Formats: sequence, structure tokens, C-alpha cells
Amino acid sequence: MIPLPEISPPLINASGILSYPEVFQAFESAGACLGGYVTKSVGPAEKEGNENPVVVYPDDSSLPVLNSLALPTQSPEDWESDLANLHLERSRLIISIYGGDPGEFANVAERMSPFADAIEVNLGCPNKVPGEQTLMESIGQKPELSGEVLRHVRASTDKPVIAKLSPNSEYLAVAEACLEAGADGLGCANTLGPGLSIDTATRKPILAGTTGGISGPALKPVNLRITYECYARFACPIVAYGGIETWEDAVEYTLAGACVLGIGTAFLKKTTREAAVLTKEIWEGVLAYLNGAPFSSLVAGAHRQPSAEPTRA
Ligand SMILES: Cc1cc2nc3c(=O)[nH]c(=O)nc-3n(C[C@H](O)[C@H](O)[C@H](O)COP(=O)(O)O)c2cc1C
Repeated sequence: MIPLPEISPPLINASGILSYPEVFQAFESAGACLGGYVTKSVGPAEKEGNENPVVVYPDDSSLPVLNSLALPTQSPEDWESDLANLHLERSRLIISIYGGDPGEFANVAERMSPFADAIEVNLGCPNKVPGEQTLMESIGQKPELSGEVLRHVRASTDKPVIAKLSPNSEYLAVAEACLEAGADGLGCANTLGPGLSIDTATRKPILAGTTGGISGPALKPVNLRITYECYARFACPIVAYGGIETWEDAVEYTLAGACVLGIGTAFLKKTTREAAVLTKEIWEGVLAYLNGAPFSSLVAGAHRQPSAEPTRA
């Protein structure tokens, strides 16, 4: 296993939200407490994705957030030239990739590898352009195929590789296949679903892609469970994603087994400056909770507790 790069503080953005190189530079200038950045998933060719609206984000932040972007991305050539001009002073760069088959995943990994401190393999995106036939809809549900993808990626880069799981899957079987194929860590996890939201005024689905992946607070208990179960089974490095908005969320995921925490939906509708302030609040809260102890002492803490005595009524 190749160790993941040191990410300090152990906070990153999640792929797809504030995830382009110029934003990373703006985050650094704003003094964000992010020890690493993850790019929007880079695919084998430029892709437009769905038309607007692509995100349902209710004003009440406790309601589910849905997205149906369907992996829009610029061309690998454009990524290469943008990444060549990116100079991060103090943070690591994780490049998220996807493909249409294992060979395409490997090609993208090889091209992006010179710019990356780690490669994150996106194994599941539950949204697509209506009618589109895409491996990305189902790859993360198939342990054998996911293992095949990871084997190809492993052979094409010497950087640490993170297999980002889909919650819509037998994720333990997928994780096992990926780790056996050479993954160095797990991403727990992508969006759930797909789900549906209907506009009562127009009586039509809100998203142009009809359905979309669920993210934000509604996703947190599911991805927290995935983090906990993956750590219990594999005790490997885990990058957690799903509804992290407060220091308490970050502490919960860390106790479940995560060593890096990704923030996505909580950054939606925020400027880079506002998002940077949020990262500081989250990290200061974690530090206060640690009360001088090292962050590593918190990782997987929930697995070390003696089981509680049953309480009597
Ligand atoms: C608008 C949007 C775009 C996303 N795009 C990607 C993507 O390109 N690649 C990927 O692996 N995950 C993508 N995701 C999933 C996030 O990276 C993350 O795993 C998920 O949203 C859970 O974290 P959150 O609740 O903090 O958003 C996207 C999520 C959203 C909301």
C-alpha cells in the first residue's frame, strides 16, 4: 500500500463542488483550512452533462439536496494546461477521474498522474443524461468490474489511489475487490439514489435529468455507516464524504474511521471566501474537541470504545 499524502489539516473539498484549479488558488489566498483539494472528476473527453436545472437545493438546509450534473468536464488537454499552471503553496492535490471502461480510467489516470499527489477513482455516479448508456451508473455496483478498473489504474500510476465507493452498492464487496486490486484507501462515499423532486407548481420533476444523487445532511447517516463498516472490515485509510457541515460532523466521521474529511454540499451557494470561513470554523471546533490531543488519536475512536453497558429503564 502506498501511504496517502499527508493532508494537514485533514479537510478537503469534495469533487464537484468548488473543484477547479482557479478556485483552489482562491481558497489558498483566503486562508482556507484545507490541507488538500479534489478536482471535479476528469473524464476521457470533454462532456457537457445535463442542462439546467442540475441542482435542487431547498432554502431549508435540512431538506435533501439533489444533483444531476451527469459528470460534465472539460477536455483532458484543458485539464493538463490548467493543472500545469496551478501552484499550491501548502496543500495537496487529489485528481478525481472516471472513464467509460477500465482502459479509459487507466488512460485518464496516467495523464493526470504527473500533476497529482493522489488519484481518486470515481466508481459511481447515480445521475446521467436521460437515455445515456454509461458504465458510471453501475460500475460501483459490480465488485469484479470495480476491481478491474482499479487494477488498470494501479498499473498506470505510482501515486496513491483512492477508490471512491458508491453507497448504492454492496460496498464492502466492492471495497474488498478494489483493495485487492491495489487501492491505497477508500472514499466513503459518493451520492445516494438517485432520488426525485417534483415542483408542485409546474407538476414536473425539477431536475432536467429527472432524477439526481442525494447529498448533504440527508446522506450523512448512510455514509457514516459505510465509513464505520469499511474501517471495521479493512482498517485502511478512509476519506469521508456526506453532509459534513459542522465540527461535530467531522468528529463523528473521524471516530467512525475517516482520516480525511471532505466537504461538498455545505460549500454550495457559498463564495470561496465564505467557504474558507466555514473550513476554519470546522477545524477550530475539531481542535477544541481534541483539547491538545493529536488528530490521529481520534481516528476510529468509535471502534476502540468498550461496548456500553445496557442502560436500565
Ligand atoms: C453538485 C455536485 C457535483 C458532484 N460532482 C462529483 C464528481 O464530479 N465526482 C465525484 O466523485 N463526486 C461528485 N459529487 C459527489 C461529492 O463529491 C460527494 O461525494 C457527495 O456530494 C457527498 O458529500 P456532501 O454531502 O458533502 O456533498 C458531486 C456532488 C454534488 C452535490
